[in-house]
Amino acid sequence: MKDPASQDKNRCVNMIAHLFNAPLGDSDTAVGVGTVGSSEAIMLAGLAFKRKWQNKRKAEGKPCDKPNIVTGANVQVCWEKFARYFEVELKEVKLRDGYYVMDPKKAVEMVDENTICVAAILGSTLNGEFEDVKLLNDLLVEKNKSTGWDTPIHVDAASGGFIAPFIYPELEWDFRLPLVKSINVSGHKYGLVYAGIGWVIWRNKEDLPEELIFHINYLGADQPTFTLNFSKGSSQVIAQYYQLIRLGYEGYKNIMENCRDNMLVLKQGLEKTGKFNIVSKDNGVPLVAFSLKDNSCHNEFEVSDMLRRFGWIVPAYTMPPDAQHVTVLRVVIREDFSRTLAERLVIDIDKVLHELETLPSRIRAKTVLDNEEKPDVVVERVKKDQNETKEIITAWKKFVMEKKKMNGVC
Ligand SMILES: Cc1ncc(COP(=O)(O)O)c(C=O)c1O
Repeated sequence: MKDPASQDKNRCVNMIAHLFNAPLGDSDTAVGVGTVGSSEAIMLAGLAFKRKWQNKRKAEGKPCDKPNIVTGANVQVCWEKFARYFEVELKEVKLRDGYYVMDPKKAVEMVDENTICVAAILGSTLNGEFEDVKLLNDLLVEKNKSTGWDTPIHVDAASGGFIAPFIYPELEWDFRLPLVKSINVSGHKYGLVYAGIGWVIWRNKEDLPEELIFHINYLGADQPTFTLNFSKGSSQVIAQYYQLIRLGYEGYKNIMENCRDNMLVLKQGLEKTGKFNIVSKDNGVPLVAFSLKDNSCHNEFEVSDMLRRFGWIVPAYTMPPDAQHVTVLRVVIREDFSRTLAERLVIDIDKVLHELETLPSRIRAKTVLDNEEKPDVVVERVKKDQNETKEIITAWKKFVMEKKKMNGVC
């Protein structure tokens, strides 16, 4: 008897491969596997690239001990894990002020004969922006032509893989581009399944070296396996299959459009306060990343801290090199984040700003700045007031953690 969960898994792989425009030709079976999440999917895709590159180099009698991957400095930490665990150098294209994703031109300049792939992100973790995979593909095609290499592309579509096909179907980022050889996506992000499921799809059989696939027969039939862990619960696969069948293309499209609409409500509300620069884009992952226009008296970490008092967990973080001087707050809009919640969050952020602006030390620090008094005259007084402020915030935090339920925003 065939294992029903394994059949569901194959059906999910096929549906997702179709969604990503995999060139299936006459074959009715796409090449892909279910994983614990995008991290495992990326490990497997990375391994396939590394092995393919090594096989080719060995066949050519060339050294194959210094493989590298070119990415933007905005990659998610799982790429750093892959690089460290599987001994591949990560060559990162630095960010710059106002440009927080990988610059395709710079990425292609960094490609050399040891590059096993360029990894582009469809939906940067930091600001949700989609990287320009089409431009990257076109530039890399040119470079491959002039060098004789055949450097491929992997798309990390952890979030964007379940967004772009539904609300930006014209955007070319997937297997429609010839150099895109594999794509990962998280089922537990916009795939709308609970935690513990991801997918990696290969363009075709030749992109996944056969020697990485293990065949076992002790469970009653030949079972090919290519995962890091062997045994795994099937509930996430069944949930993914259920969601794909239950919602269909139209269902996912409606949900993604709704997320985008609620993102715009939040973004416009924040803009109206006049206090923030928005660093996310309207046509990426439905999230709002924003930073304070004026952080001379209070910063994004304090806003994040104070928001906990209202039950919100909104992370604040600094951007990677060379934009590390920029700090942002980020709110990811998922299916259950309604318009009402978006409006309430804007109100709470406004209250937090008002409080930060009127706390004793803030007022005095601001007076010093406004009146251009000599800072050393009042520096001790401000220090004392800042300690008082810290005490107030700590007391509030303690109160909130004990008394109030938190609304998580991840
Ligand atoms: C772009 C990107 N890649 C990979 C990952 C890792 O995904 P997972 O948590 O599904 O392993 C994330 C998670 O936030 C991500 O945003």
